[in-house]
Amino acid sequence: MNRVRGGLLNDSDVLNDSAFARDVLAGLSATPKRLMSRYFYDERGDELFQAIMASPEYYLTDCELEILREQGEPMATAMATDEPFELVELGSGDGSKIRYLLDALQANGADFSYRPVDISAAVLDQLAGRLRPGRPWLELRPMAVNYMAWLEDLVPGEQRRVFAFMGSNLGNFGDEGAVGFLSLLRRAMGPRDALLIGLDLKKDPAIIRAAYNDAAGVTAAFNLNLLARINHELGGEFDPAGFEHAPEYDPATGAARSWLRSLRDQRVPIAALERDFTFAQGERVFMEISQKYDDAMIADLSTRSGFRVAADFRDRRGWFTDQLWVPLTGDRGSTLKNGPPAG
Ligand SMILES: C[S@@+](CC[C@H](N)C(=O)[O-])C[C@H]1O[C@@H](n2cnc3c(N)ncnc32)[C@H](O)[C@@H]1O
Repeated sequence: MNRVRGGLLNDSDVLNDSAFARDVLAGLSATPKRLMSRYFYDERGDELFQAIMASPEYYLTDCELEILREQGEPMATAMATDEPFELVELGSGDGSKIRYLLDALQANGADFSYRPVDISAAVLDQLAGRLRPGRPWLELRPMAVNYMAWLEDLVPGEQRRVFAFMGSNLGNFGDEGAVGFLSLLRRAMGPRDALLIGLDLKKDPAIIRAAYNDAAGVTAAFNLNLLARINHELGGEFDPAGFEHAPEYDPATGAARSWLRSLRDQRVPIAALERDFTFAQGERVFMEISQKYDDAMIADLSTRSGFRVAADFRDRRGWFTDQLWVPLTGDRGSTLKNGPPAG
């Protein structure tokens, strides 16, 4: 994902070697200040994210679950060819969504193994505990790595691979980051490989705004928890009550951005960085982008990244899509069992 720039890494002689410390230093030294969303997920952050997913306003998980539960069979048909393949899920989490697809693939007689890739070994243990019972047929090959680093060295395999990148995680990369990530993935793919990608779609702006600013304040607590994490892990002296969650959504671009806004002029020491950071009243710290897409944006993004859309599965409300993308230069279209539908 976002990389710390070399210059920032080299200009400090006080920095310890924690990536978290390096990224916080780089982010709070930037204009505007920013923090990286990958650090949301400490133990408390995991709990709060579960609570967000369970909140009535957060529609994304429900939509994608509906697609996988109700369209698993056609999705499995679109994905499978006559040759064995490995399903590689990037950022799998605990496997709660993909299980429907695994079952549909098995029911369809697909010859496949499943490789969940996640940076968190703990979450992969949960995944194994969730998926193994009742699925003696499942060939599970979990891998605890940073998928960005892993993809950089990955070359097309002899066996066919189908990658899965669900949950509209792509939307957290920003436009350039998304093309960079997809291009990296594309280079690791052979002509018969495919990508199943989950993307959140543009819709009534009120629905999107509510999803990132729930009435119970869980999303606010989730964002503010990163300040608490800096306090615990880096000796920071943030007063979370000195900041407010200030999300915004621009319907024209489809960008939903989360910010924390400083409620007063304040100076915050962070011991591990041996620095104080000043925040003016009203100053905003950028936390995360969650991009929403329309069909034209998806067509543009897929083409720029070297893919074409071969199949498109949407929930009943048309709020979310799971799509099968295939490499543009390959001839996978001719081998898809149900032909190339949308795109
Ligand atoms: C929000 S969860 C989504 C889980 C699942 N894909 C879904 O859609 O429900 C994101 C997962 O990606 C993992 N993750 C984030 N960045 C990663 C990286 N660079 N390498 C590997 N895993 C990563 C996190 O540990 C987390 O389990």
